[in-house]
Amino acid sequence: PRKIIIDTDPGQDDAAAIMLAFGSPEEIDLLGITTVAGNVPLAMTARNARIICELCNRTEVKVFSGADRPIARPLVTAEHVHGKTGLDGPTLDEPTMALEAQHGVDFIIETLRAEAPGTVTLCTLGPLTNVALALQKAHDIAPKVRELVMMGGGFFEGGNITPAAEFNIYVDPEAADIVFRSGIPIVMMPLDVTHRVLTHKARVAKIREIGSAPAIAMAEMLEFFERFDIEKYGTDGGPLHDPTVIAYLLRPELFTGRDCNVEIEVQSPLTTGMTVVDWWQVTGRKHNAKVMRHIDDQGFFDLLTERLARI
Ligand code: BDR
Ligand code: CA
Repeated sequence: PRKIIIDTDPGQDDAAAIMLAFGSPEEIDLLGITTVAGNVPLAMTARNARIICELCNRTEVKVFSGADRPIARPLVTAEHVHGKTGLDGPTLDEPTMALEAQHGVDFIIETLRAEAPGTVTLCTLGPLTNVALALQKAHDIAPKVRELVMMGGGFFEGGNITPAAEFNIYVDPEAADIVFRSGIPIVMMPLDVTHRVLTHKARVAKIREIGSAPAIAMAEMLEFFERFDIEKYGTDGGPLHDPTVIAYLLRPELFTGRDCNVEIEVQSPLTTGMTVVDWWQVTGRKHNAKVMRHIDDQGFFDLLTERLARI
């Protein structure tokens, strides 16, 4: 199985991504979960990651808390999307499993140094603060990363927190800039992909029908999460962003995209956090990311449902 670290700010869709990994032990060896401030503050994301582990009987998974704020800006959160706790929807017990004492950034550094070079994949589902801080603190680790698969950005689709920017990049554009300049092989799942992955009622019903506690909680989370998106986008169901990252590891053939240059806007107040994707290859700037554009959305939901049933 492929060794991964999930860096996350749960978030209902982050929870779906973590569960997709839990349901896929043959393909995925989860070395640890690092949490970051994003959708809700750090104390909440660290709490929520442990709630998901306990809900899925995976209390042996190590959960670390990382950065509590972006590198150079005040934290912007998204309770308007995810609710006050970040996992609004189901009634969930407070976690009892312990948070690891080590800082999430140090866990990332230590793991990349300890494992064979080119074997660890970083899966980022929130602002890129933890990875950027690790890269700043440990200059030797970038070449050791096998791949970084992120949910973040948008190009033809525009932004979701401002007209120009997607939330994860907007919250910490300086961090994103560090990551895109790092030389790490990046796979980017932008809004162009995730806005095609809609939690239609029939899809959520299939998840609920699995009948297990994690599946029912997931269905309730998705029902909460989509309320906001139905109002915002006028679609039948909301976009399920973060699990596309894990789905890519399991079934890359569900996605199509191309190698591009991506640069991050860090200055303009109007477009801060914009991912400037050279899709048409008009600049000659060096490719630094595989940018996905299309997804087989039904194939994705079949995979998610099948794997949730295995938890
Ligand atoms: C991203 O922002 C968060 O609200 C979601 O969890 C996802 O990672 C979508 O823009
Ligand atoms: Ca997220």
